[in-house]
Amino acid sequence: MFNTINVTQNILYVGASDRKLDRFENMLPLPEGVSYNSYVILDEKTALLDTVDVGVGKQYIENVKAALNGRQLDYLVLHHMEPDHCASIEEIAQLYPNAKIVGNAKTFQFLEQFYHTDLSDRYFPVKEGDTLELGEHSLKFMLAPMVHWPEVMFSYEAKEGILFSADAFGTFGSVDGNIFDDQMDYIDVYLDESRRYYTNIVGKYGAPVQMALKKAAELDIKMIAPLHGPIIRKNIEFMIDKYQKWSTYTPEVNSALIVYGSMYGNTESVAESLSGMLSQRGIENIKAYDVSTIHPSFLVAEAFRYSHIIFASPTYNLNIYYPMHTYIHELGALNVQKRKYSLIGNGSWAPTAGKLMGEMLSSMPNMEQIGECLEIRSSLKDEDAGKLEKLADQIAESIKNS
Ligand code: FEO
Repeated sequence: MFNTINVTQNILYVGASDRKLDRFENMLPLPEGVSYNSYVILDEKTALLDTVDVGVGKQYIENVKAALNGRQLDYLVLHHMEPDHCASIEEIAQLYPNAKIVGNAKTFQFLEQFYHTDLSDRYFPVKEGDTLELGEHSLKFMLAPMVHWPEVMFSYEAKEGILFSADAFGTFGSVDGNIFDDQMDYIDVYLDESRRYYTNIVGKYGAPVQMALKKAAELDIKMIAPLHGPIIRKNIEFMIDKYQKWSTYTPEVNSALIVYGSMYGNTESVAESLSGMLSQRGIENIKAYDVSTIHPSFLVAEAFRYSHIIFASPTYNLNIYYPMHTYIHELGALNVQKRKYSLIGNGSWAPTAGKLMGEMLSSMPNMEQIGECLEIRSSLKDEDAGKLEKLADQIAESIKNS
């Protein structure tokens, strides 16, 4: 059974949600599912904007056929060539043999790398600023390289004021009938997953996102239609502000994020005590996580959110406890910067974790260590609480002065 939803009178949502996929890119957990969005524009010419992931391909094809309602497809527009949006290209090309395939030079390069049907005689190349006229509707293309991949482009439909933003402004989480952000409490339902999506998928590419935001700022945007998650029409300014912060690595919360690894509870106990000491010093919104019990993608999102991060780790095989190593490595890979950090290292006979965490974190741009690394031998004794109190003083003072 098809499921098409009107975005406007002549623009239809034909995407679908996957609520059984365990991990996005076979890596990032999807506790709330994920949607793959696609849109059909019906005018003198017809256009289909992107396809979907293989997991929802059957539903998608039913939706597209229903939306076109017997009409031929004139254009298949490819904003992004990652396979979560491209699995149905060959099927659509077969179903609609007259459809031109709209993309840029890199789009076609990736199309040929991923897929094996020769569609080159149907290419309709576009470049920055080109407009595809469909009748009353038109699509103006803006290249947005590295707003996830190098071939990504946005398009702007002028009649309705819709920015088709590819992965940008997308989010994890299924779309459950309500395709617009004003049909639910979008911030409550989707913001955390939007942040986790952005920071883990696009977080590395702050500068390219800034360039894309500058282009978007020149447009009269009434809706942002991403490739994942609801269409944004109520929270446009709010989400653009979030993207400004995330893409400039500006924290949203001036407080302490405590991330600890602990094998037998001794490092955890120190982290627990530190959280209480910070609270007693007037710090609010403290958050503590056991790095072993939560997927790093959630902690990456929290690192983008918080101003101060305290890393506490045991030494393991003369190295950093490896869930913590993975986490810090990922922060570096995603270009996390401009954070204040503090270190707690634990080791029973040859402690190295504190020193090695410091080396990793200090190599990231504009990072500032608060206090000295607190080194623990197996456990922190009550009589040594003063050392932790001193670190708490320094962190609290830094937060208050930030
Ligand atoms: Fe949703 Fe970069 O693909």
